[in-house]
Amino acid sequence: MVWSQSSALVFFVNGKKVVDDQVNPEWTLLTYLRNKLRLCGTKLGCGEGGCGACTVMVSRYDRKSKNVIHIAVNACLTPVCAMHGAAVTTVEGIGSVEKGLHPVQERIARSHGSQCGFCTPGIVMSMYTLLRNTTVPKFTDMETAFQGNLCRCTGYRPILEGFKTFLTEGDSNDVVNGVSNGCCGKKVNGGCCMSNGTTEDDEAMNQNGNGNISDNEQLFSPETFKPYDPTQEPIFPPELLLSSHYDDSNIVFHGERVTWYRPVKLDDLLELKASYPYAKIVVGNTEIGVEVKFKNMHYPVIIQPSRVEELTAIRVEDNGVHFGASVTLNDLDQTLQQQIQSQPKHKTRIFSAIVEMLRWFAGKQIRNAAAIGGNIITGSPISDLNPIFMAAHCLLELRSKDDHRFVTMDDSFFTGYRKNILKSEEILVSILIPFTKEDEYFWGFKQAKRRDDDIAITNAGMRVQFEVGTTIIKDISLAFGGMAPTTVMARTAAASLIGQQWNEHLVREACQALIEDLPLSPGAPGGMIQFRRSLTLSFFFKFYLVVTSELSKKLPYIKPLDKSLQKVVQLYHRDSTKSCQLSQVVPDGQPDYDLVGRPVAHLSALKQATGEAVYIDDIPRYEGELYLTLVLSTKAHAHILSIDATEALKVEGVVEFFSAKDIEPKRNHFGAIIHDEEVFATSKVTCIGQIIGAIVAVDQATSQRASKLVKVDYEEIHPVIVTIEDAIKNNSFYDDWVRQIKDGDVEDGFNKSDGILEGELHLGGQEHFYLETHASVAIPREDDEIELLCSTQHPAEVQHLTSHVLGIPSNRITCRTRRMGGGFGGKESRAVIVAVPVALAAKKLKRPIRCMLDRDEDMAISGTRHPFFCKYKVGFTKEGRIISLKLDIFNNAGNTLDLSCSILERSLFSADNGYKIPNVEFNGKCCRTNLPSNTAFRGFGGPQGMMFCEMIFDVVAEHLKMDQIKIRDLNMLNEGDLTHYGQKLDYCTVRRCWSEVLTSSHYAERRQKVDEFNRQNRWRKRGIATIPTKFGIAFTALFLNQADRVPNASATAASAGSDLNGMAVLNACKTIMERLKPFKLANPKGKWEDWVNAAYFDRVSLSATGFYKTPEIGFNIATKTGKPFNYFCFGAACAEVEIDCLTGDHEVLRTDIVMDVGESINPAIDIGQVEGGFMQGYGLYTLEQLMYSPQGFLFTKGPGQYKLPGFGDIPAEFNVALLRGAPNPKAVFSSKAVGEPPLFLAASVFFAIKDAIKSARSEVGLSTEFRLDSPATAERIRMGCEDEFTEKFPTPPGGSFKPWAVIV
Ligand SMILES: Cc1cc2nc3c(=O)[nH]c(=O)nc-3n(C[C@H](O)[C@H](O)[C@H](O)COP(=O)(O)OP(=O)(O)OC[C@H]3O[C@@H](n4cnc5c(N)ncnc54)[C@H](O)[C@@H]3O)c2cc1C
Ligand code: FES
Ligand code: FES
Repeated sequence: MVWSQSSALVFFVNGKKVVDDQVNPEWTLLTYLRNKLRLCGTKLGCGEGGCGACTVMVSRYDRKSKNVIHIAVNACLTPVCAMHGAAVTTVEGIGSVEKGLHPVQERIARSHGSQCGFCTPGIVMSMYTLLRNTTVPKFTDMETAFQGNLCRCTGYRPILEGFKTFLTEGDSNDVVNGVSNGCCGKKVNGGCCMSNGTTEDDEAMNQNGNGNISDNEQLFSPETFKPYDPTQEPIFPPELLLSSHYDDSNIVFHGERVTWYRPVKLDDLLELKASYPYAKIVVGNTEIGVEVKFKNMHYPVIIQPSRVEELTAIRVEDNGVHFGASVTLNDLDQTLQQQIQSQPKHKTRIFSAIVEMLRWFAGKQIRNAAAIGGNIITGSPISDLNPIFMAAHCLLELRSKDDHRFVTMDDSFFTGYRKNILKSEEILVSILIPFTKEDEYFWGFKQAKRRDDDIAITNAGMRVQFEVGTTIIKDISLAFGGMAPTTVMARTAAASLIGQQWNEHLVREACQALIEDLPLSPGAPGGMIQFRRSLTLSFFFKFYLVVTSELSKKLPYIKPLDKSLQKVVQLYHRDSTKSCQLSQVVPDGQPDYDLVGRPVAHLSALKQATGEAVYIDDIPRYEGELYLTLVLSTKAHAHILSIDATEALKVEGVVEFFSAKDIEPKRNHFGAIIHDEEVFATSKVTCIGQIIGAIVAVDQATSQRASKLVKVDYEEIHPVIVTIEDAIKNNSFYDDWVRQIKDGDVEDGFNKSDGILEGELHLGGQEHFYLETHASVAIPREDDEIELLCSTQHPAEVQHLTSHVLGIPSNRITCRTRRMGGGFGGKESRAVIVAVPVALAAKKLKRPIRCMLDRDEDMAISGTRHPFFCKYKVGFTKEGRIISLKLDIFNNAGNTLDLSCSILERSLFSADNGYKIPNVEFNGKCCRTNLPSNTAFRGFGGPQGMMFCEMIFDVVAEHLKMDQIKIRDLNMLNEGDLTHYGQKLDYCTVRRCWSEVLTSSHYAERRQKVDEFNRQNRWRKRGIATIPTKFGIAFTALFLNQADRVPNASATAASAGSDLNGMAVLNACKTIMERLKPFKLANPKGKWEDWVNAAYFDRVSLSATGFYKTPEIGFNIATKTGKPFNYFCFGAACAEVEIDCLTGDHEVLRTDIVMDVGESINPAIDIGQVEGGFMQGYGLYTLEQLMYSPQGFLFTKGPGQYKLPGFGDIPAEFNVALLRGAPNPKAVFSSKAVGEPPLFLAASVFFAIKDAIKSARSEVGLSTEFRLDSPATAERIRMGCEDEFTEKFPTPPGGSFKPWAVIV
């Protein structure tokens, strides 16, 4: 075969043929779609297969089965060369606003399933692909299809509800919002008995509202949806169907730096591998794609073996099933499932373990593309399949041009971290997965941070074979991942168990041997040492129980498992999620055109669903446009000795390097409150990720490559302060920003207290993870003008700071923001870090400049929600009244002040949550650390202040052995109470929300059921908790509480967007209406058009600007005078969870929320904010954990490492009611702000988890007074449930080792 002549790439996109004879093999399908074909509906959210924003459908004709196969894939990882002979469908290919939406697009839009819309096209394509494969899917199919899609805004529920309309009957009958499975369907007072707590038994509660409840008014109307007709789908390109030419010819694409070979015969493949021993074999590219993009790897020769028959073959043989190495994980899964159906059960125990493991392996898109061979050969120590393959003794077939051998997969296969016994010219051809024998049992285990689509913390494959008909162990193999640089086998444990009886004594012995087999030093990479080690024992214990349970079915002398143990052996399963949303309906007689109070889909929804909504990076390239990449500090604290861009500037296509030398020194500073941050670092860096300069080049790939060649010499400075603890030790604070709020006399309060408790608490930070990263385009215009297109919440600040740095008057800078793909506070003050360098480069080079940060850059640079720490002293009476509370609160501000002091202030304002505490002293300090500056995030310090308060209530209740509900009830605020900063509470609905949620959730009854469950189960525990919230509405910086509908806009932040702008719009409307009055009077029967026309011809201005400033607010923290807030939002939530005490896993079984949003302007949007806020808070308090090294390096820089809640994490039952009959006279149309207030309600899940842990602890006689910091991760849950396994791994004393990660 001659490989010298480059082939032309041929594939179809949305039915159109693409022929490219100069394709760049380094391009992904996503780059090709967006940059070459200008199909920008498919989004870039992460570039590493972790968010699903780039999902497209790939279709191929399978000549063996004569079927067209449709799969969803991540375009960001799919090499475009791999598309040869395939048909790609993108979101644009299925519908558009002009031609009509596809039912999938229509339903997500009309069911309110898009907010910022950045995730929407990807979700649409996952659902679309599912429908192309199964026209009437089941709920579980849908759950599986969405495992690889993330949404940061909606909380997922509306997306699922909208799409449930496609499901089979049985799966969708709980869909209807308004009346759902959470609701009995009975009417009380004309309303739903669940609505706002009104029950048959308690009709009195229904009296104080206006009685209009949306029990039959739905948030969307499924009956208006276009029916789905699968026959109307576009046909597969006939050319690909008729000819196999594209599939069975050898292909080569020669690019500038990379050559791509696609041989179709094994001999050719082996020949190529012999010629290029270091060539990479690429199938799914899910491993190599990530290495190239994020680990700076370069592979000049790629060989794609996907068309080589030996590597794609699947054969059932006598001793097992043979899979070619290029068989995808999805095909592996389907084949094994067929075998499980058709073979005797005992033969397929390994297959069942693999199928179960694959359920939790990545997302559907990855499993569709990734191959078995890729997983084995990569040899990741946390590979999910390798422990199973090893424990199962799978047989591998290896070949090279001159050799052919078979090896059994065991721990001699891996020779070091990601190394194995393959010779460089050798490839893996196939794997044989054996059948199990009658007396052989097999199980796989995996524990990750998140259940769906997450890599393992620790995993295992376990096999035991008994002497026939006995419980004597004949052979056993135990393989573990996550315990060493390779997958390992517990050899000593296995050897010591052979010949033994399978009984309880064996567990003790096995555990002892496992401890020896699987050591981990306290500072080992990956951290979580005690947790990982405990998991190995927990897994073995689970294995013991499942095998015992199986044996008991066969051997009469083995007792079935005790009832208290039975849940341990059950596989995770949940039915279709349920939900109920309740809100007020508009009054009878409200005209149709009046949309206030109606659940109308927002304006961009349709465009978002079709991919037509334009975000910054979707704006077409301008003529002569260049791309900018930031050069970042790699040291946390160091002097810059020199910056040398010589090598970078030599790279072809690089235009310029900018650094501090390009900015006038007096202009090189900016900041949200004080200008303490440098645009480009001059002489010193104070965090890893600080911006030192910027490379500008012809395109992103060139500028990114060149940016890595900029050489910076440093001299390190000590100390490096990373944690709040370090900062306290080193007295490293922003000294001018110390804050205090006092009320009453705490010392007097302590003296009068019956009990005093003191302690410390820590709350982790949170990455914003807006799906669209920071992005800006700057276009130089005439007369030194700059037009900035920027994804920001605060265009005015971007304009202002750009003007300052560039030395150009503000009026020459126009900043436009059409929409953002999420912000959540992260694009309030931090957008300038991209916008300003881009504007600077545009000014200097007089060319348009673009930059959209990659996900890892964004996470490394832009800061997070502040981690907080507090020392508390609380005094209380024996009845449970909290009478004195002293808090010393610290936040980790990072290397500049940004908004940290305002965030700290809000935490002090919020630390009373919903309670009246007569004596308080709240002190706050911002810690100056060597981390990237932390910044605003939904709630702005409120969720941290409130959390401390609730954590302390929990501690006191536990100490007094008092009911958690009673203590909260006893201390709760009342109408007319004064807060600790002297603001009187009027329209205080916290008690209503509280009592209504207790009723609607049936708290008391369920509390008993939870206790009953806990008595019956040893290793699974349930917990339930109810939490109130109070959130003050206003910017804490007084001047921001204004809106002018034309210039000087305040940020869209502080939940105040609608309050301020709505009022300003109203003000403008009133002016215009006033001007129209004479024309209406003159023509009372006329229409709007008549009056407007008449006014125009009478030369009356028809435009007006509106202005609004929030009245009567302004607080002086020193004198404690004035009011900080315009009004308060209130709410309450009840959550129930189940935890697995052995692994730390948890599931939210049910959540009920009652939220006061005043009179909702749009209940669909308000409920969307409540649910979205709740799920973001759920991430904050349970899943999301930032990991930093002691040197300040952020490990969690992408969705692979940093886990936000996914579809599978929403409560199994999720009920939201908007409090009715609670108008708010202080905001537009009696509404209330809603963006931030509901987020804290997710703390109910944290306390439900704590409640469950308490139950586990009390069962073994441990104290229920223990510290649980936030987030309640799997690690903390497991280690909180102390038992005979965890006690084997005591925490080594601090300072005795260097930890891998620190809590900042
Ligand atoms: C978002 C995401 C989630 C993931 N989740 C998980 C998870 O939950 N569990 C888990 O275990 N892994 C996970 N992975 C890792 C990865 O998906 C798997 O390892 C996958 O099986 C790799 O297959 P691939 O075909 O994509 O490999 P590729 O990237 O194409 O190749 C990987 C490596 O294998 C080599 N190789 C492939 N085939 C052969 C062969 N026949 N002979 C010799 N060498 C070969 C290649 O040269 C390369 O070095 C995840 C990855 C991503 C991106
Ligand atoms: S952009 Fe492809 S998965 Fe995130
Ligand atoms: S709507 Fe899903 S990320 Fe914003």
